[in-house]
Amino acid sequence: MAVNRYYDIIFFFNTTLSHDVSHILCKTTDINDPGSKSFEVNIKRKTQAVFVVHKNGEFFAYLNQCPHTGATLDWQEDQFLDLDKALIQCATHDALFFINSGECIAGPCKGQFLQVLPILIIDDEIRLDL
Ligand code: FES
Repeated sequence: MAVNRYYDIIFFFNTTLSHDVSHILCKTTDINDPGSKSFEVNIKRKTQAVFVVHKNGEFFAYLNQCPHTGATLDWQEDQFLDLDKALIQCATHDALFFINSGECIAGPCKGQFLQVLPILIIDDEIRLDL
């Protein structure tokens, strides 16, 4: 059953889905380590901005929505990390978040979390597991 689910995967760059399925975001090699990349996907018939961070061989996905105001976090396209590439940094008020948990550790939303999204790595592809 789970295998059949992945045959229904549809690419999502600037497209609209008629139903919700797993989403292929990109290849694992498309994101530098460390690095980050943004996407727009249709989740429950609503277009959502999401991003993936690649750090030390691991991948983490979050909604691109700061818990402080709901603003997007990226500085520029695909730029979500601080200068040291050690933390996620919000472009609006500089809140800092752990990459592996999404917990805000400094800034106006300290103690709050980014909304994590489940992902799977299958055949070198990063997929949202919704
Ligand atoms: S909007 Fe992100 S810290 Fe204020």
